[in-house]
Amino acid sequence: MTTIPETRPTASGQAIFDAQWRERVTARRPGYSLEAPFYTDEAHFRKDMEAIFSRTWLFVASVAEVPEPGDYVTIDVGRDSVIVIRDDDEEIRAYHNVCRHRGARLLMDSSGSVGNIVCGYHQWTYSPDGELMHAGLQAPDFDRSCFSLRSVHTKVIAGLVFICLAADPPEDIHEVADRISPYIAPHDLTRTRVAHQEDLVENANWKLVMENNRECYHCEGAHPELTATFFPTYGYPEDQIPKRLLPAHARYLEAEKRLTVDADRNGLRSRLITELSGRPTGFRIQREALDGAGESYTMDGGRASRRLLGSFDTHALGRLSLHVQPNTWFHFLSDHVVTFSLVPLSVDRTLVRTTWLVHEDAEAGVDYDLDRLTEVWHKTNAEDAELCERAQLGVSSPAYVPGPYAPTETDVDAFCVWYIERLREYAGME
Ligand code: FES
Ligand SMILES: [Fe+2]
Repeated sequence: MTTIPETRPTASGQAIFDAQWRERVTARRPGYSLEAPFYTDEAHFRKDMEAIFSRTWLFVASVAEVPEPGDYVTIDVGRDSVIVIRDDDEEIRAYHNVCRHRGARLLMDSSGSVGNIVCGYHQWTYSPDGELMHAGLQAPDFDRSCFSLRSVHTKVIAGLVFICLAADPPEDIHEVADRISPYIAPHDLTRTRVAHQEDLVENANWKLVMENNRECYHCEGAHPELTATFFPTYGYPEDQIPKRLLPAHARYLEAEKRLTVDADRNGLRSRLITELSGRPTGFRIQREALDGAGESYTMDGGRASRRLLGSFDTHALGRLSLHVQPNTWFHFLSDHVVTFSLVPLSVDRTLVRTTWLVHEDAEAGVDYDLDRLTEVWHKTNAEDAELCERAQLGVSSPAYVPGPYAPTETDVDAFCVWYIERLREYAGME
């Protein structure tokens, strides 16, 4: 007799896993890193894709990546593929990248430009606003209007494009948009263009990549380029700053005083808002001073591009930093913007896409030098990738047990708190 190998979990196997998973979700110890299976187990990864990436708002692109009607990018999130396209009325729209005929994937490239979206299988043709325009020969009662592309919820916040794959996306995105737009809008992303984009695959679970981003406890030892301008006191409670960092702290206080004057004159908001957990769309936003010349993310803190964004009157506007759960962070400078978006590829591989935006009129080699513009984050990303890979190796060891977060790692804990909240909500464990 031949035995057919079991390729799917049996109903009882699934029930056992679900029970274990719920137990781990319930047992998460606040202030400590997560249990190993959250980082290493395939079934936990599938839960993450369902509970997080199919249900929360994800940052996928900025408007500068689709500047003209017909320009598009495609983003693969698990088994979903999504087209983000600018339509003929200049609206940003998103659709499932699936033909309404027999389901073929419509656009195969990660970016490009089309007049219409034409399926490569039987040439069904859709306008950029998603309507089916041509479908070859069809029965007399065929109603084209019933076969528009299936849209994906989209929210553009001051030029940042977020999508949500859920049928009923979290409503709080609108309130988040209202609160963060006044911070971002003066950088005027509608008048920027992509100077450079870089994809990096990190050999680590997506949560290790996010956790690594949410603290700078590691920066002093790991990031000589970043700490040229990023104050190493970030995250320290004022009364717990180590002695060796007191000179840096004194510089920070002075730089903040100068920044306040320049930011006020330019009508900019700086005040910290931190709501990284306790809501579906967790976020944190704050403008802070940079060290050195204080103008931009460069090796000496001097300007990265001669062309200022928006209508700023000085380069010395520090960094406006925005974090949004679960997959993104941003830095808005006076002369450029860096966006980061993350997509899990598998339980231990994560795509990190970094995009540098400059003023639309800034010319490479004239107004900015591409190496100078990208050096800090190009190198910092590579350093972070190595750290995340190390973390993945460590948590994969049978010897790993969750360890405590330091006082400078409160935002890492907030990320894990948010993550567990989302899992509980998904599983109806409120
Ligand atoms: S599957 Fe797209 S036209 Fe047939
Ligand atoms: Fe880092």
